[in-house]
Amino acid sequence: MPEHAVLFTRRLPDAVERRASRDYRLIANPEDRPLSADELISRSDEVDAVVCTVADKLNAGVFLRLPARVRIVASFGVGTDHLDLAAAKSRGVVVTNTPEVLTDATAEIALLLLLGAARRAYEGQEMLRAGRWTGWGPTQLMGRQMSGKRLGIVGMGRIGQAMARRARGFGVEIHYTDQRRLPPEKEEGAIFHATVEELLPLSELLSLHAPSTPETRHLLNAQRLALLPQGAIVVNSARGDLVDDEALIAALRSGQVGAAGLDVFQGEPAIHPGYRTLENAFLLPHMGSATIETREAMGFRALDNVDAVLSGRPAPDRVA
Ligand code: DGY
Repeated sequence: MPEHAVLFTRRLPDAVERRASRDYRLIANPEDRPLSADELISRSDEVDAVVCTVADKLNAGVFLRLPARVRIVASFGVGTDHLDLAAAKSRGVVVTNTPEVLTDATAEIALLLLLGAARRAYEGQEMLRAGRWTGWGPTQLMGRQMSGKRLGIVGMGRIGQAMARRARGFGVEIHYTDQRRLPPEKEEGAIFHATVEELLPLSELLSLHAPSTPETRHLLNAQRLALLPQGAIVVNSARGDLVDDEALIAALRSGQVGAAGLDVFQGEPAIHPGYRTLENAFLLPHMGSATIETREAMGFRALDNVDAVLSGRPAPDRVA
């Protein structure tokens, strides 16, 4: 009988569940139903570790009620905005995330969003599936090309840099803003701007890669959208609350923003209904890290952190 017990709040890839069952007494969630706060607390009774996901909200109330036996909350994901880290600290529970392993998958989705929005992929799919395609036409579904354009990146961390590398391959000039300038080897020729206001007027393409914090909430609001070149393409694969939805929807309707590619939404899964009717919005259901390779790597990374803490070693990816 394994010494320690681990709770998975959601179903994780088979390979991850196999490893967890090999090493621990696993309390799984085979039906994959999101747990309420009360269910999470009651299922945490008699476990030493909780592996949660970015869809679980662990606020101060949850951390304060977590049974004393729980020594680590290992979050399956890189973002930490669903976790009250200050409450975790005061409760004395270690919290970890899964950085690095989802960089490539998320950058690939950002590129897909950019291409899908710029090349009107949603409208093309709709036309075909609804049986409305009458054949090739010289002015049919003309979109915007990436080559020769300037891409503005807000947040040049690991994922922003990976997006920049990919976009360079499409002949795009990279501009970025972040809290500080990167060293030249990380910049790889990208042009730094000290403020979002400086970056936006030259961003014919714009991709958001900043974390969700009180400072970045509604970073893209009506005033800032008005600074973009007319018809710019806007992409968000970071967090929904970076964008003021009302303002973006108005800009998509007026043509100030030519098209948007969005994988994340404020209040998801209840997305702003305005997006559903917009033909120039290319929408995905928060699937940036959803590749088999990445989701397995995320699970293994979460378990590496659990292994460390339960065997008395420091957690490699400690965030609180
Ligand atoms: C994260 O990790 O923060 C993503 O949003 C989900 O993989």
